[in-house]
Amino acid sequence: NQAPDLAGRHIVVSAGGTREPLDPVRFLGNRSSGKQGYALARTALARGARVTLIAANVGLPDPAGADVVPVGTAVELREAVVKAAADADCVVMAAAVADFRPVAYAGGKIKKTDAEPDPVALVKNPDILAEISRERARPGQIVVGFAAETDDVLAHGRAKLARKGCDLLVVNEVGETRTFGADGNEAVILGADGGEAPVPFGPKEDLADAVWDRVAALFGPPAG
Ligand code: C5P
Repeated sequence: NQAPDLAGRHIVVSAGGTREPLDPVRFLGNRSSGKQGYALARTALARGARVTLIAANVGLPDPAGADVVPVGTAVELREAVVKAAADADCVVMAAAVADFRPVAYAGGKIKKTDAEPDPVALVKNPDILAEISRERARPGQIVVGFAAETDDVLAHGRAKLARKGCDLLVVNEVGETRTFGADGNEAVILGADGGEAPVPFGPKEDLADAVWDRVAALFGPPAG
């Protein structure tokens, strides 16, 4: 599907996974590869959109034509997304954002001693998807979230869609060997309008195009 149905639209995609530092050499992170977010960026570009790609710790080549903004932590990701969202028609939060970060950052490498280590104290990170959905920097801005669930995927997805306040939520089932880092994905796209579109297992580009089909439908006919 290469129809330029996203021409004239500015689309912001976050991708990858945030890293929350404990000291200069250690962090709390997750297994997100950034592949789904990059597939979303590439397919949106192919459909004519202008794309800002907020990339959290992704080791993939920049999609040609995307404005790539590298970030590290959830706080940095939030800043970059909020800034780019100011004139965006659509924001897709495909990044795996750490829910918590260490309270303290040790300026020097934490040393091993004979004593038992202290537990790591954590503080909540901002929920960027909920904030973007609530604020809607532009009228009619479409906000899309992703949710990886391990059980009761649809029920948890519906509840999360309502809680976050986004327009679409792409839910998939994950386990230790599923989805993260893989080239394929399988998901259900839930809509705030009650819609439910299953996308069978296939390349991450196929899921990305299915998301853009739904987004383009929500945009309605092209402006002008
Ligand atoms: O609540 P949960 O982390 O399962 O929700 C996943 C969705 O929320 C993803 O779209 C993710 O990018 C977004 N998220 C966020 N800020 C957080 C945590 C998750 O924007 N602090």
